[in-house]
This record gives sequence, structure tokens and C-alpha cells, in this order.
Amino acid sequence: MTARIIDGKAFAATVREKVATHVARLKEENGITPGLAVVLVGEDPASQVYVRSKGKQTVEVGMNSYEHRLPAETSENELLALIERLNADPDVHGILVQLPLPGHLNEDLVINAIDPAKDVDGFHISNVGLLATGQKAMVPCTPLGCLMMLRDHHGDLSGMEAVVIGRSNIVGKPMAQLLLRDSCTVTIAHSRTRDLPGVVRRADIVVAAVGRPEMVQGDWIKPGATVIDVGINRIDAPERGEGKTRLVGDVHFDSAKEVAGAITPVPGGVGPMTIACLLANTLTACCRAHG
Ligand code: GUN
Repeated sequence: MTARIIDGKAFAATVREKVATHVARLKEENGITPGLAVVLVGEDPASQVYVRSKGKQTVEVGMNSYEHRLPAETSENELLALIERLNADPDVHGILVQLPLPGHLNEDLVINAIDPAKDVDGFHISNVGLLATGQKAMVPCTPLGCLMMLRDHHGDLSGMEAVVIGRSNIVGKPMAQLLLRDSCTVTIAHSRTRDLPGVVRRADIVVAAVGRPEMVQGDWIKPGATVIDVGINRIDAPERGEGKTRLVGDVHFDSAKEVAGAITPVPGGVGPMTIACLLANTLTACCRAHG
């Protein structure tokens, strides 16, 4: 049996279409245009690519995009002053500070300076607490995208065994909270987990978010399980020619797809869903702001 390949690119396009339809109606009926401010400090090349892509897709769904590019040597006070201004700006409904920040800036301090109602990343300590206690929260975009794909494939997730590999604040922990909220039995595995293959073999749902290229092997997967691969790793690909590289996930796709019931590819799986969920969160923040 080979797995159904979950097409995140197509799914993300349908999410964006729904957002665009809602945005058009908000404009027409209420004269409101949702606005997303993205703040980039420094010149990290990967962050620059993400920020450009976010800005482009924000405009494509009819929202206003406000980009703030600051030099790497920006002081904490300067960055906090910008966040204050964005918090107070009624045209800005969502604020995203691209991570990682340069080393001299305290990420926790900066993220927690964002108005929780505008925290479309769902990283503010208030949103983390609201999610953990089952209250209405802004939910981090990558885990939200994973959950949407899981619900679309399975419908009800209740009672399923889910293993999340990775315990980051951005993906692993909120993913576990979301699966728990949907009544899965959840295990968070990580680099110190003993017998990781044995733990993964129990799972009906595997979410891999460890940042280790192709670590999860096909023979770790329970036959028929659903595998969501959050990893984006660039590795050398000498078979494509000298100096060439390719993108792979945290799952060894070719072996896993022979065992799994469904699997997300890399690229074209979770990745496109993240920005689509960011736009959905911005729309949610705008609707909440306007009652
Ligand atoms: N850097 C990598 N992923 C993310 C994300 O989801 N949000 C922010 N703000 N920065 C990131």
C-alpha cells in the first residue's frame, strides 16, 4: 500500500480563497480592511524569503501589508517602541515579529510586548496560557495548519494515539495542546526520548518537528498511520550535480510513504499551510477587534 499524499499547497490555496472572500465582504459591508504588520530585524536570508512571501500573500487576499525592516543593530528599546506604535494603530490587526531575532534582543520580552489580541503568531504568554486551558486563543500558525490537514483527512480525531516529535514553543508544544483539545492521547517525544522508534510505532498520528533531515524511517511507522512532516531541511544532493541541494523533511519520505496511510510531502505539505493560517488568524483578529 502506498500512502495518500496530502496536498498542502492545494489545501492552502482553498484556505486563502475563503479568507479572500471574507475580506472582500468585510470591505464591502463594513468598510474594514484587515491589516498585518510584519517586523524583520536584520538580514537573515531565510527570514527575508519568508517575510517577502507573507507580504505578497497578504496583499493577494485583499489585506493591507505593513512591512517594517529594521537594521540588525536595532536596540531593544527601538523595537519595543515600534511594537507600541503598532499596538496602538487601529489599522493594524495582526503583528508578527519574524524570529529568530539578533542575539542582543530578548525574544520573550519582545513577543510579550505585542498586544495579545494582535498576536497572530500565538506566541504571547497569554495566548499560550489560553490554549493550554482550553480558552479562545490565537493559535500558532504551523500547528494550526497541521491540525486542519488532520481534521480534513480523518474528521474526528477523538481517541487517536498521537506522537509529536519535538518540543519547541513554535510547533511541538502547541501541536500537542491542539491534539489534546481534539481528544487525542498525546505523547511529546524529543531528542532524549528512549526508544523513539518504539514510541513512534504506537502512533495513529505522527507529527515530526525535530529539524533532523529524514530522521523518521519508514519502519518506525505503524501501517496506515498519518504522518505530518513539519521539517524543512536543505541537504546536499550530489546526484543532481556538483554543489546542488534539495529540501527534505524530518521524515524519510520514500520509505514512510510505503507504510503510512497518508503523508505530507516536503516541499508542498505543511509549509504552504503556515502562511495561509497566518492570514486566517489576521482575519480572526480583525473580526474580534470590530466585535
Ligand atoms: N520563524 C520561523 N517560523 C516562524 C513563525 O511561525 N513565526 C515567526 N514570527 N517567526 C518564525
